[in-house]
Amino acid sequence: MSKSHPFSQDFKITKADRALKKQQQPMCIWFIGLSGAGKSTLIDALEVYLHKKYYHTYVLDGDNLRNGLCDDLSFSNKDRDENLRRAGEVARLMVDAGLIVLAGFISPTLEQRTKIRGLFHKNEFIEVYVSTALEVCEQRDTKGLYAKARAGEIKDFSGVNSVFEVPSCPEITIDTKTSCIEQSILELIAQLKIIMQR
Ligand code: ADX
Repeated sequence: MSKSHPFSQDFKITKADRALKKQQQPMCIWFIGLSGAGKSTLIDALEVYLHKKYYHTYVLDGDNLRNGLCDDLSFSNKDRDENLRRAGEVARLMVDAGLIVLAGFISPTLEQRTKIRGLFHKNEFIEVYVSTALEVCEQRDTKGLYAKARAGEIKDFSGVNSVFEVPSCPEITIDTKTSCIEQSILELIAQLKIIMQR
């Protein structure tokens, strides 16, 4: 599927120049987890926190991308691969532009996550697993999608009738069931600080 293109063009202003101008270390923080796990809620709170500290951020959200850049894609395994390839490439460009990208996608398979990670330098990528259990996501069912999936109205629904592989090496794991959102965000920020100091 991936076609190699023999040319690439260098420009005088580099990623390092752009990062210096923004006074920040560009990076991608990639949140994975089931629908309803709390990815968007955590991302929203983290972005507010970073924004107040004058960091320049941008959110890439699964639902939002599927309303535009990825509106031609379904939830088949093949289309999810393509959805995540596009999202990963956009995130890579944004990191190159000097931004701190907060990405929230189910990202159901280990293979997809490995490919995404491979787009970034080691110190530029942090995987956050929002590990909220299926039963809890299903109980919340904020979008009413689990009920539809159980009723057979939605096929290929992650966790119900489509795979979700538990991640093997996330840098951070947050379970939004065991603590309230305020505690979860404090835990997330504390863990991010530890990783960034390494
Ligand atoms: S991913 O698997 O390709 O990473 P993505 O994060 O873009 O998924 O989209 C997930 C969102 O799409 C969910 O939060 C939910 O709102 C919606 N959605 C609609 N249909 C499905 C489905 N079959 N499986 C999972 N999510 C779905």
